Amino acid sequence: MNTFTYSYPVKVYFGEKAAANNLSAELAKVGSNVLLAYGGGSIKKNGVYEELTGILKEAGKTVTEFTGIMSNPTYKKVQEGAKLARENHIDFILAVGGGSVIDCCKIVSAQAKLAEDIWELEYGKGGRPSEFIPMGAVVTAFGTGAEMNNGAVITNEEKMLKSALWGAFYDFAILDPAYTMTMPLKQVISGAFDSLSHSMETYMGSPREVNLSDEINEATQRNIIRNIRATLKDPQDIQVRSELIWAAAMAENGILKIGKVTDFQCHMLEHQLGAYTDCNHGQGLAVLHPVLYRHMMPEASRQFARLAVEVWGIDPVGKSEEDLAGAFVDALAAFIKEIGLPTTFAEMGIGEDTDFQAIADSTTLTGGCAKKFTSKELLEVLTECR
Ligand code: NZQ
Ligand code: ZN
Repeated sequence: MNTFTYSYPVKVYFGEKAAANNLSAELAKVGSNVLLAYGGGSIKKNGVYEELTGILKEAGKTVTEFTGIMSNPTYKKVQEGAKLARENHIDFILAVGGGSVIDCCKIVSAQAKLAEDIWELEYGKGGRPSEFIPMGAVVTAFGTGAEMNNGAVITNEEKMLKSALWGAFYDFAILDPAYTMTMPLKQVISGAFDSLSHSMETYMGSPREVNLSDEINEATQRNIIRNIRATLKDPQDIQVRSELIWAAAMAENGILKIGKVTDFQCHMLEHQLGAYTDCNHGQGLAVLHPVLYRHMMPEASRQFARLAVEVWGIDPVGKSEEDLAGAFVDALAAFIKEIGLPTTFAEMGIGEDTDFQAIADSTTLTGGCAKKFTSKELLEVLTECR
């Protein structure tokens, strides 16, 4: 175990009617000017908008809407939200959506209180914002676990970077499985795969000896795999959906990371792929993971071998560590195919004309990865994914 301090600032209201039962009490604690933030309008089709605006109205709030937050939110969109928040003297942000809306608002909440440009503050000066507009999240698309942390993945189109900015933690998060039942099945699967990826990226970090966090992590991975299969059988099973939503939160609420340095090399590469192609995050991870892991095989064979047995149920009898490590990557690749995720960039519509060299060169090399990748080897990975 590495040394750690653990406390968690996000209060979670989980379950059906979580908004109806808890949002009024939370709104009573905040000022009257509320920024209601959402994406492209799915909440207007499934009744979530109507329910939430009803609660806001009953609470006597003055609502300003911040709409059209796109998947892979841009820095420009963050600045638009911050301007809106300043001009309307916003006291509280209610972010309603998936990882994109939830991330965008974390940075809006910080930028609205800052005189200087937050990208320059964080990347130019190595600083962090210290003042924030309070916020609540209502999750309508699960998978990223973005509601549980203060990192936001923002695409800076001018700089061609999709990078983490650090903003505020949400004061509370509402996770009502019923709100997610209208998600397209494709997004359910790519979101759930993202949760599996977060668990694996956390597991693969150091130290290499298995600790309690890793054993909880193994259970989380087994749960996600089982429930992805179950949701494909019956996409409307709300119990299955509940499991997946909580597993997504578990992967990002800090518990699996206790005492560990995480890996997240695959995520860094996928984020830059996203900066250049605007691709779906979970799908990008699905293509990259098996290929990247084959490159990591010698260095990560101990963890891979353990996952083969503990998560994928592979019989270890008569198999060497190398055999088991290979069997793990094979099982992961077969699972990705089984659940209908893409296995090549071509399937994702990412063409040969993509600047893979620039993607590899601009990808952060992570310290926690078992293998110390070079940009050159990341380019090989990208090339093999085509
Ligand atoms: O915009 P609307 O119309 O709402 O449609 C959205 C969007 O098209 C739709 N949707 C959401 N809830 C729905 C629904 N459609 C029907 N019914 C509902 N209930 O789903 C689409 C995708 O939403 P989005 O928020 O983009 O997806 P996701 O949750 O996968 O978030 C992806 C973003 O999160 C970042 C990713 O990089 C990407 O930018 N990540 C954030 C992380 C974090 N902060 O911890 C960690 C992740 O690794 C990830 O990088
Ligand atoms: Zn992710």
